[in-house]
Amino acid sequence: MAVAPERPQVAVAPEQLRDVVAEFPVLRRTVGGHPLTYLDAAATSQTPQRVIDAMTRYYTDVRASIHRGVYPLAVEATELFEGARARIAEWLRSTPEETIFTANATMAINLVAYTWGRQHVGAGDTVVVTEMEHHSDIVPWQLLCAERDAKLRYVRVSDDGHLDLDHLDELLTEQPKLVCVVHISNVLGTINPVAEIARRAHAAGATVLVDGSQAVPQIPVDLAELDADFYAWTGHKAYGPTGIGVLHGRRELLEQMPPFIGGGHMIHEVRDQMSTWTDLPWKFEAGTSQIAEAIGLGAAVAWLSELGLEWVREHEQALVADALERLAPIPGLAIQGPTSAAERGSLISFTLAGAHPHDVGEILGRRGVCIRAGHHCAQPLMRRLGVGATSRASFAVHSTAADIDHLVEGLAEVRRVLAL
Ligand SMILES: Cc1ncc(COP(=O)(O)O)c(C=O)c1O
Repeated sequence: MAVAPERPQVAVAPEQLRDVVAEFPVLRRTVGGHPLTYLDAAATSQTPQRVIDAMTRYYTDVRASIHRGVYPLAVEATELFEGARARIAEWLRSTPEETIFTANATMAINLVAYTWGRQHVGAGDTVVVTEMEHHSDIVPWQLLCAERDAKLRYVRVSDDGHLDLDHLDELLTEQPKLVCVVHISNVLGTINPVAEIARRAHAAGATVLVDGSQAVPQIPVDLAELDADFYAWTGHKAYGPTGIGVLHGRRELLEQMPPFIGGGHMIHEVRDQMSTWTDLPWKFEAGTSQIAEAIGLGAAVAWLSELGLEWVREHEQALVADALERLAPIPGLAIQGPTSAAERGSLISFTLAGAHPHDVGEILGRRGVCIRAGHHCAQPLMRRLGVGATSRASFAVHSTAADIDHLVEGLAEVRRVLAL
């Protein structure tokens, strides 16, 4: 293997990074005598102590059902829950009324498909997605299009891992009802120009949904500037707990949409044969909410905004630049997606000639190096790339240059074990 070039300066001051690492209890673990090298934040992030504490406090000191109770505990729980919503909305420059809690990003996208979609998409209409969508931004539209006899069209991905915007323009001449695009690809890492895509789609009369699942924890996101109609993301990739996601929607659309799930909490009045709906955002939050999870996500967002997403981006981009340089000379290793760290989020997918990604993941795992192997819920993209699966290393706020060393050393071991 070629000698590694001089390593770029990792952006963050070592003391600051130490504090960030110390915030994650799981990183104190060892695996088979090796330190835990967690490079799978794109699948799910680890939990900062702040988030664990916020949720524990709800369960130990404040637990009560929200909104309906008039006793102090219930009022406090409601304030924590709605305070979390307000903080999340403010952080992304949305509003609390336009910030709906869901179970995850998948549920957020299905909410749009089952309500707005069934209201607006009819026979012969077109829905546009891209070849780099996660299944959660494909399958709901397949179901809708099959039910409505509508067409599902895919914006092509170029060989260098970018969306072909000329092809988007071509598809926009079909006057699609909806354009769905991922903000940062969970396979290629590509950061898509979603504001420009929204501008073009709106000019063609389409509604726009952005899947921000990877973007929210990685880059500053300003929904007011972005101007999408719907923006979906998931809490467990943004240092929050599992079981909570968010859908931001344009108020005018949300007001016109029918509810998704019916039940308690989302009604204004229930008569024997019909009901009327309560205000936004609760119209879309039937049943008892994920109270602890929302409070946990609020704590995650508070912590992230203290760190500053500019800091997060700078830190992770420096790591990605370093990793791209360290991985490139490994014989047989091919990196998918844009070549420059400036054009990608904090993840790198790669293939290693002669090695199945599951074997790569398994051998690395024995050394405490956790990466993801598989199709990453993006089978149409795998077909486009001509691969069945890839290995994916993804970086987080707590990642360090030592993590990249462990990855590179682990890959040398993979090559040794598999006699590559
Ligand atoms: C880009 C993207 N969209 C959507 C999802 C789905 O997230 P969830 O399973 O939390 O709904 C993922 C998760 O891997 C993702 O990476």
